[in-house]
Amino acid sequence: MKKALPEYDFQPATLKVLEDSPKKLFINNEWVAAQSGETFETLNPATGAPLAAAALAGAADVDAAVAAAQAAFPAWGSSIAAERAEKLFKLADLIDQHADMLAELETLDNGKPIRVARRGDLPYVTKHLRYQAGWADKIEGSTVPVTFPNQFVYTRREPLGVVAAIIPWNFPLLMAIWKLGPALAAGNTLILKPAEQTPLSALYLADLIREAGFPPGVVNILTGPGEPTGAALAAHPGIAKVAFTGSTAVGAKIMAAAAASNLKRVSLELGGKSPNVIFADADMASAVRGAQWAVFSTAGQECVAGTRLFVERAAYDQVVDGLKQNVEKMVVDHGFAEKVHVGPLISQAQMERVQGYIDQGQQAGAEIVAGGGRVGEQGYFLQPTIFAYQDDTLKLVQEEIFGPVVAVTAFDSEDELIARANDTQYGLAAGVWTRDVGKAHRYAHAVQAGTVWINGYGMIDPAAPFGGYKMSGFGREMGKEAIDLYTQVKTVWVNTQ
Ligand code: NAI
Ligand code: MG
Repeated sequence: MKKALPEYDFQPATLKVLEDSPKKLFINNEWVAAQSGETFETLNPATGAPLAAAALAGAADVDAAVAAAQAAFPAWGSSIAAERAEKLFKLADLIDQHADMLAELETLDNGKPIRVARRGDLPYVTKHLRYQAGWADKIEGSTVPVTFPNQFVYTRREPLGVVAAIIPWNFPLLMAIWKLGPALAAGNTLILKPAEQTPLSALYLADLIREAGFPPGVVNILTGPGEPTGAALAAHPGIAKVAFTGSTAVGAKIMAAAAASNLKRVSLELGGKSPNVIFADADMASAVRGAQWAVFSTAGQECVAGTRLFVERAAYDQVVDGLKQNVEKMVVDHGFAEKVHVGPLISQAQMERVQGYIDQGQQAGAEIVAGGGRVGEQGYFLQPTIFAYQDDTLKLVQEEIFGPVVAVTAFDSEDELIARANDTQYGLAAGVWTRDVGKAHRYAHAVQAGTVWINGYGMIDPAAPFGGYKMSGFGREMGKEAIDLYTQVKTVWVNTQ
């Protein structure tokens, strides 16, 4: 296949990945074609041209992967924890060794600036993996002082079995590792389904997994779309848990499928409509820059994006002017361009969805302060867009857009602010900028969100629990909480008489 790639000094290994197409499925540490023989294409969102074809896993392939993961579970689940950690650390070393080409694959498949893939995604992938590997041999039970005489009671934290990880396309490898790390550390086996828009880095990871020495069946990787591949995983009776990141609508379908099949455990990290607040006493330069990057990094395709910007009325004009000036300097281009701040959206469908919100917002009376249109004719680029609004019921203000669009509004009092900030079905994250420590904490406590940043935005760390309130999902990834998501407690009673 002749590929239309940008001028860039690609790693030879990156080009080889694109040549070896169609890709296969990874089951039992082996590469196999889909049983149906079907494939699908993954596109370069900067051009719309195909990068490679991948196998489309159907129900029969899901059965095969589940059988492999089930067969591997007894030995892996009862293996010495330090040995599991060792393999995860080895995998992290291998990812570091291949970081340059993995970053190139992320940028080709997802579109994000290569600088971001290199300095953001890849270092975080191994930071998270090493942190979770460290938990493997620190998962402890407890002894329990019960009311019965002569009974010694203790608990064990045991793995669940086969875990399916269904992940999105915005941080392909990082999302894979967020789930793979704690799942394997705790002794589960795994089936990973990357998003159909970005399968390439997960498939490359498969070879590193084999090289790191994981036994056959411990990790299986199935490529394919939500239907049939993801749906078959969610409904499979042999799977003990689905860990999902993606849209709220699909999260609800996964819960329904879990309920109807075997009550498999579900953890969901879903959408957001996060309120970011600037009080008039904030350090304005940082607040405005913070508000800008809170929404426009990854072209707005982040679950935590600060998409609703609340500004105290006394500072409103200053913030809107400053934001407009900054935003109009942002360079929209493909991810390998020398200077680029905002890459393409992931797909034609996503670009059209976002453009639909922009058009609808304008018709409904919100004012465009900057941007609003497409950039170029090729690929899926949109201008960073600022809306000014008053009406909290607008679709633009209520629904997750997942594109480079921020909606700015003025507020007058803290009470009004809290009521409006919480007037959403979502509750993933929130930000606040102020020099008043009391005000900052009052807001942090009152806002309904799983993460709150004070005088900053967007930091995520392997040690800091992360997840949603309300329809942004449940379960906490990162930190020790991540291990709780992938284990269950057994209580053992011993008669000592
Ligand atoms: P999506 O939720 O459809 O896709 C996420 C993952 O779920 C993919 O791997 C997909 O193949 C899988 N999936 C889709 N339907 C499924 C089903 N019925 N059963 C099991 N798995 C299924 O998200 P999509 O279509 O890529 O984006 C649509 C919107 O979702 C975005 O505009 C954004 O609002 C939201 N989204 C939120 C993300 C987040 O990080 N919270 C990430 C991606 C999307
Ligand atoms: Mg792609």
